[in-house]
Amino acid sequence: MSPVSTGTLDLQHRRCPEPGDDLSDYSVLPVPPMSIRFDQAAGTLSPAGPELTRRMSDLEGLFLDQNAWRTAVADGDPIVYSVVSSLVPEADRELPQSITTIQPGSTGGEFWMTKGHQHPNHQGEIYLGISGRGGLLMFDGTDTRWVDMTPGTIGYIPPGWAHRSVNVGGKPYSFLAVYPGGAGHDYGWVLEYGLGQRVWRQDDGVAFGGYFAEASS
Ligand code: 6PG
Ligand code: NI
Repeated sequence: MSPVSTGTLDLQHRRCPEPGDDLSDYSVLPVPPMSIRFDQAAGTLSPAGPELTRRMSDLEGLFLDQNAWRTAVADGDPIVYSVVSSLVPEADRELPQSITTIQPGSTGGEFWMTKGHQHPNHQGEIYLGISGRGGLLMFDGTDTRWVDMTPGTIGYIPPGWAHRSVNVGGKPYSFLAVYPGGAGHDYGWVLEYGLGQRVWRQDDGVAFGGYFAEASS
């Protein structure tokens, strides 16, 4: 067996990535065995791959109260969430990982959340809560499920369940996702079918409501 944690060569004589390495050597297939540093406190993966930031303007058509959404876009277009990834690419049979951090907030009373998506090539996925207080909303087109996510909770998303993450606390909510690289991401599915329920801020708690209900004026 070729050493991977301390070794300098793997079976294909490619060096294992280390923090600070030039990423371009590793973001191509085949991916070598590697050690990935998961810094819980910082919410980072290292060596790091692509990173994306979603602002309010990227969440068009997702909050029920569209007027409140427009106002939030005009009023500084805040960052709602960011996603950092490891070097493992979204390729068939690979298992990429990412950390999503959703900022605390609400728009028109609806908690800040991810866009949500369906994996067109139905496969399972797991989330691990890292910090903050959130929830994992899942919808299979008929049934809706909610999993409270706190640090240490593993949320399991079975194949065929669209999913969205929601920050229901007053601090940033972060979680690690591990998902099949060939699963794909379909965001149009959520725009068409929704996610079963809305997650509203209510006093100091959480309230659920119908997804396509009319927004109260
Ligand atoms: C995935 C995971 C997860 C997700 C992010 C951002 O399949 O990659 O579910 O990493 O992509 O939490 O959420 P959206 O992809 O819905 O914007
Ligand atoms: Ni997913």
